[in-house]
Amino acid sequence: MKLQLALDDITIDEAVALLDRVHPLIDIIEVGTPFLIEDGLKPVREFRARYTDLPVLADVKIMDAGYYEARQAFAAGAAYVTVLGVTDLLTVKGCLEVAADFGGTVVADMICVPDLPDRIRQLEEIGVTALAVHTGVDQQAAGRTPADDLQVMKAVAQRSELFVAGGISPATIAQYIRLGADVAIVGSGIRHAADPVKAAEELARLAHQDTRERQS
Ligand code: 5RP
Ligand code: MG
Repeated sequence: MKLQLALDDITIDEAVALLDRVHPLIDIIEVGTPFLIEDGLKPVREFRARYTDLPVLADVKIMDAGYYEARQAFAAGAAYVTVLGVTDLLTVKGCLEVAADFGGTVVADMICVPDLPDRIRQLEEIGVTALAVHTGVDQQAAGRTPADDLQVMKAVAQRSELFVAGGISPATIAQYIRLGADVAIVGSGIRHAADPVKAAEELARLAHQDTRERQS
């Protein structure tokens, strides 16, 4: 399993201070949605240049103007760009078209998708190869987790890399490893841990042990 660090409620200076310490432990740097709202695509450009061995995911959560908005994020250096799975398939197709030009990947974020199996089939049919189950921050506050949705996705998806997000921490990552996720997305579980480096170390230990077990 890969470990993706979601940088959400953070400044560029704070993010660099954290990444300088944890970048050898993680596999993907996510510039999160609130970070993008605050700073635009500048952190994508900066992290691309500073951490050259790590891909950057821009969590732009595209809902419309797929070609145009995905192009902005890929052109800034993102290797992964998110589109909302609930949006029109035309928007997703626009994102996929640009991704092909840049050699990047579109991740469909399935937050609030009402019929998960149906939508997974439709998205894979048009060429999506990365899907994210996602229990949002507001849903987490109501006590929800992404575990059930991940089980559904694992059973239905045929060809996609599976990402999972929603309050994952060192205490809960084992469950998502067991359920077969390929990428664990962790925000607060590192950023707001009492000791963020220790949390990242523990998450990386478990995630990468899973990678080794899958390879053996
Ligand atoms: C919220 C997001 C977050 O980046 C994602 O949920 C990961 O953060 P956390 O681990 O704190 O849930 O995209 O919409
Ligand atoms: Mg995010």
